[in-house]
Amino acid sequence: MNVLVTGGAGFIGSHLVDALLARGDAVRVLDNFSTGTRTNLAHCAAQIELVEGDVRDLATVERAAQGCHAVLHEAAIVSVAESFMRPEETRDVNAGGAANVLHAAREAGARRVVIASSCAVYGDARALPLGESAPPAPLSPYAETKLAAEDQCRAACAAKGLDTVALRYFNVFGPRQDPSSEYSGVIARFMQAAIAGRGCTVYGDGRQSRDFVFVSDVVRANLLALDAAALGGVAINVGTGTRTSLLHIIHRLGNLVGKEIAAAFAAARVGDIRHSQADIARARKLLGYEPAVAFGDGLAVTLEWYRQQPKARGRG
Ligand code: UD1
Repeated sequence: MNVLVTGGAGFIGSHLVDALLARGDAVRVLDNFSTGTRTNLAHCAAQIELVEGDVRDLATVERAAQGCHAVLHEAAIVSVAESFMRPEETRDVNAGGAANVLHAAREAGARRVVIASSCAVYGDARALPLGESAPPAPLSPYAETKLAAEDQCRAACAAKGLDTVALRYFNVFGPRQDPSSEYSGVIARFMQAAIAGRGCTVYGDGRQSRDFVFVSDVVRANLLALDAAALGGVAINVGTGTRTSLLHIIHRLGNLVGKEIAAAFAAARVGDIRHSQADIARARKLLGYEPAVAFGDGLAVTLEWYRQQPKARGRG
């Protein structure tokens, strides 16, 4: 099958590229390298087709989608905190980009589009775990744009032959997650600090928790979504069904590096949700998805990967 991966040079996208190539699919990547890197694709550059461009540009997306049977749409501004500083750009990239991808996929005669959504659409949960029928209550421009993309995704199913699904990722972590920005994912940030022998900055009291899911589980959910029978634009949680607090991560990381890690506490971030934990019954039922990587194992593999990176990655 010919598959387009938008954001294919990014953290999750590049792992999807690897998995698709491993199962014999032909892969095209659309990326503007704003946050994705050539390094993430260096090992497979000869096996993929690369379209360098922006999801905000419809003509580019149409060119990238030509001849594709399916699209995995990962390109996005992924930081909740950053979305408050750049709300318009976040809307253009996340909601506008999804609209372009759905339009181009339909024009190209693709059969399936899988879009990356987020558990951020739930906002602050009153009851955990979060099932997909919980009412959306976005707390940030980021979450609003992901919800808008989901709506478009559902609407696009009315188009003849195109089937879509939105995967609501919980907190994904693993090798290749960029640690270098202040707004990078928390595990990447904490790992970088631990390796450098520095303390971690904790926004809030550190008791907030997330459902941290290892990237290979998210990849498997995407492959299952690609191959599933018609999904009709439904949203599906992709997590583990468990949750871990930031203080617990710091403790586990300390055990892994063999040294206690100090935490410096700072004010909680605006728009931060307190707890999240996925109910994954729908993913089990519709996709046959089951998370396979225990949190501690994922943490150890990820730490090893950061340790092997050249010093340049350890900025920030
Ligand atoms: C993350 C993802 C988002 C995804 C969402 C799903 C990133 C950058 N964001 O958002 O794309 O849709 O999960 O839940 O991957 N924190 C610290 N210290 C740090 C960094 C973060 O205390 O150095 C705190 C944050 O304030 C927050 C928690 O850790 O309370 C998690 O933050 P972060 O990793 O940015 O994830 P989300 O905001 O949940």
